[in-house]
Amino acid sequence: MYKKLVAINERPSPFSIYTADTLWTDPHIAQQMLKTHLDQSTDRASRRLPFIEASLGWLQRRFNIGPGTRIADFGCGPGLYATRLAQLGAEVTGIDFSANSLRYAKETAVSHNLAIDYIHTNYLSFQSDKRFDLILLIFCDFCALSPTQRQQLLSIFREHLADGGAVVLDVHSLVDFARFEESVSYGRHQFGNFWTDEDYFAFTKQFKYEAEQVTLDKYTIFTPTRTLEIFNWLQYFDQASLAAEFAANGLTITDWHANVAGEPFDPQSHTFAAIAQPT
Ligand SMILES: C[S@@+](CC[C@H](N)C(=O)[O-])C[C@H]1O[C@@H](n2cnc3c(N)ncnc32)[C@H](O)[C@@H]1O
Repeated sequence: MYKKLVAINERPSPFSIYTADTLWTDPHIAQQMLKTHLDQSTDRASRRLPFIEASLGWLQRRFNIGPGTRIADFGCGPGLYATRLAQLGAEVTGIDFSANSLRYAKETAVSHNLAIDYIHTNYLSFQSDKRFDLILLIFCDFCALSPTQRQQLLSIFREHLADGGAVVLDVHSLVDFARFEESVSYGRHQFGNFWTDEDYFAFTKQFKYEAEQVTLDKYTIFTPTRTLEIFNWLQYFDQASLAAEFAANGLTITDWHANVAGEPFDPQSHTFAAIAQPT
């Protein structure tokens, strides 16, 4: 017991363990995630539909989206953006490694008679002959990646942009980092049956890495048959640190906004969005 408690409290070095694939692809957790994406009482997996509609309106105007616009939605999840972009006439490719979310996305496309190219893969190894006018990475997914993974993904974006193409993404800001406080909690069936249908005890330990501007939500879940560990990392950015990562991959950030609905940049905002183009 003592050793287990020591392990739960252990502070790993930033991004040393990657479990995002378990979080999004474990059959039970993926189902809970899909429910959370679609739940209109929370913004925990996707933003709620009024925001998504506002976001689509801004993207359509800003990038003149219409028939023939080639768009890649990285981490498309259940296709909440991809569906609506295809309804505007765009040629949409949605990329995600959650088979469960893609199943929902594909069913939605069929029921709306939309031809969306959904690709089930890890976007960190995405390769295609296609080139895109617009590449999206929405809901701060960039922040969940390690520095090496972020470089990998930006290089993939750069390679797959058409002439005149742009990348749009959002990230957590240092304002959000400042309000984060370390904490610990424990409970039987913490978060209902989110982690598994078995009986379980879960510990949630939150770590803050001041120097690196990184946080970790570390979940340790004990069931009668197994122990599951999930590490949710987040990197927080200011404009300079985000611009530097883009510049290292031949991308220049041309516009800053408060969010992917195109609201004006606000230094007090908990997230912010950027538009980037090849340098
Ligand atoms: C926070 S959700 C956002 C979904 C969508 N962009 C939205 O706003 O509704 C992140 C999505 O990215 C996917 N994802 C995370 N890492 C991925 C990776 N390395 N390769 C492919 N998909 C990934 C997850 O499966 C999940 O569907």
